[in-house]
Amino acid sequence: MSSTNILTLFFIILTLWNSVVICSRLLETSLTEKHELWMKEHGKFYKDVAEKQKRFEIFKENVEFIESFYDSAFNLSINQFADQTNEEFKASLNGNKKPLRIETETETEFRYENVTEVPATMDWRERGAVTPIKNQYDCGSCWAFATVAAIEGIHQISTGKLVSLSEQELVDCVKGNSYGCSGGYSEDAYEFIVKKGGIASESKYPYKGADKKCNIKKGAYSVAKIKGYEKVPINNEKELLKAVANQPVVVYIEGGERAFRYYSSGIFKRKCGTDLDHAVTIVGYGISEDGVKYWIIKNSWGIKWGEKGYARMERDIHSKQGLCGLAMNPTYPIA
Ligand SMILES: *[C@@H]1O[C@H](CO)[C@@H](O)[C@H](O)[C@H]1NC(C)=O
Ligand SMILES: *[C@@H]1O[C@H](CO)[C@@H](O)[C@H](O)[C@H]1NC(C)=O
Repeated sequence: MSSTNILTLFFIILTLWNSVVICSRLLETSLTEKHELWMKEHGKFYKDVAEKQKRFEIFKENVEFIESFYDSAFNLSINQFADQTNEEFKASLNGNKKPLRIETETETEFRYENVTEVPATMDWRERGAVTPIKNQYDCGSCWAFATVAAIEGIHQISTGKLVSLSEQELVDCVKGNSYGCSGGYSEDAYEFIVKKGGIASESKYPYKGADKKCNIKKGAYSVAKIKGYEKVPINNEKELLKAVANQPVVVYIEGGERAFRYYSSGIFKRKCGTDLDHAVTIVGYGISEDGVKYWIIKNSWGIKWGEKGYARMERDIHSKQGLCGLAMNPTYPIA
């Protein structure tokens, strides 16, 4: 190769390199802007520049994941969780930082065991048994939200009145194996409400998103009572269907799956684990035009997540645990 050729080659490489650098810088700028806009939209503030830089890097990686993701059944979006790592997100779901301990051995009566006819579809929202979507914010209180949604449901079904009930009372006052924002169990919550003789309304005992002292005075305004709770026979979506046909049901799931965290629409159907770390309420079921059966899930991550706060998750899957383990420990309150 002559020296002119080498020189030309050198210039070509230099030019290409420059354009690569410029391109990635442009990309960076638009991502920085995206991050700024996203911070505004979700009211995020960082304590200093270092923290902001760190969060930006995580945001970038998550955005890359979301934008490169494709599944014909459902979509993802860049939601409020986009500046957290997977580990942080999983830890925030369940403050215990370990999978929920599920007592699958203990069985209870199952009042829907002899149910033979169930409607083809059910949506408790249409029947006025579901309050608007709530947000647990930065507190591992999913268990309180899931329990409350199920009690709001059975209260409306049995009395005709839809009353928003207090998660904060459960966060503050339920003991046993439950630790407020550090995670807890629906079973503890039911037992607390039975013992106390009811649960306060949301308006009398409003949500704070943090652990507070149990307020007996506010708790004295019990508006909804339950007699107890029952478990659906485990790992059996057919039995689960009988229960959901009659009332909203609390289920534990693995909620830490990255695609679930950014789910925005469609039917969530995908390989998912069974390390139960989240609680949600099943408020109905249906079947899509192309024949995919699904559950309607009420979540507590605000209305910017999922289908205005709800998700449709595939029903009757091959694995008997159900998608993300949803059939592993369903419970429902008894009015
Ligand atoms: C279901 O049917 C069986 C057999 O008739 C009966 O023994 C059982 O009590 C019924 N269960 C409920 C919850 O009604
Ligand atoms: C995904 O988003 C696209 C574009 O908004 C939309 O047309 C499509 O229906 C969505 N798919 C699902 C399964 O929701």
